[in-house]
Amino acid sequence: MIVANWKCNGSKAMIDEWFQSYKKVVKNNGICDGFIGIAPPTIFINEVYNQIKKNNLNIDTISQDIAGYTRKFTGAISADMLLESDAYSFCIVGHSERRISYNEDNKIIQDKIRECLSCDINPILCIGETEEENKHGKTKEILENQLSILVNMAITDSLTIAYEPIWAIGSGKTPNPKDVNEIHKFIKDVVQSISTKNLAPLVLYGGSVTDKNSESFFGEEFVDGALIGGASLDGTTFAKIVNIFNTTKKL
Ligand code: PGA
Repeated sequence: MIVANWKCNGSKAMIDEWFQSYKKVVKNNGICDGFIGIAPPTIFINEVYNQIKKNNLNIDTISQDIAGYTRKFTGAISADMLLESDAYSFCIVGHSERRISYNEDNKIIQDKIRECLSCDINPILCIGETEEENKHGKTKEILENQLSILVNMAITDSLTIAYEPIWAIGSGKTPNPKDVNEIHKFIKDVVQSISTKNLAPLVLYGGSVTDKNSESFFGEEFVDGALIGGASLDGTTFAKIVNIFNTTKKL
């Protein structure tokens, strides 16, 4: 599964160019394990959705965030609204930029996951530690705490986790792929032990993934894909990453 998180980037011209480049470079229409998704700013959802249909591409559109039950805020979008739009079946929840800049804590994020699950929107829950926490060997403790919101929740296989060390996001710094693999195994074990149905989720890696380093992550057993910010803004680069994923995972 490869997901583009465009964050607060994009324009009509950029989207047009993105799709022209993407379709020239992507092989086999990108058919891959799981799916390929783009999370554009909501205002551009129609442009992105129409481009996908027009070019007959194997891409899903994803919401970058959702309001929880108790957070019907000005500017926010609810799960009901996402459901009304054919364009959304997945939603990113708990991205570190929202945890930090919008003060979203475990309780708020839990609320959002609940709302997703109750409306058949598949959540992609982002978790990750700061550089300080990483240096002090606290990564697993932090991740376990962030995953604790799943206790007593009816987790289904619609849940995906994105492991995004905060210090790797947009910084050009990346953890060692072997360490990422170990962390992903840990995440799967923690969720499986919480899940009453014994479900282990897909776990994506996110944080400065590019077409140059993606193979080293995809080569690891427990890395099921990537959540990509900066490198997803260019259609050619994103298509290259999709191709690398498909070759590395050899489906
Ligand atoms: P990045 O962002 O790929 O630019 O590091 C990843 C993310 O924030 O999801």
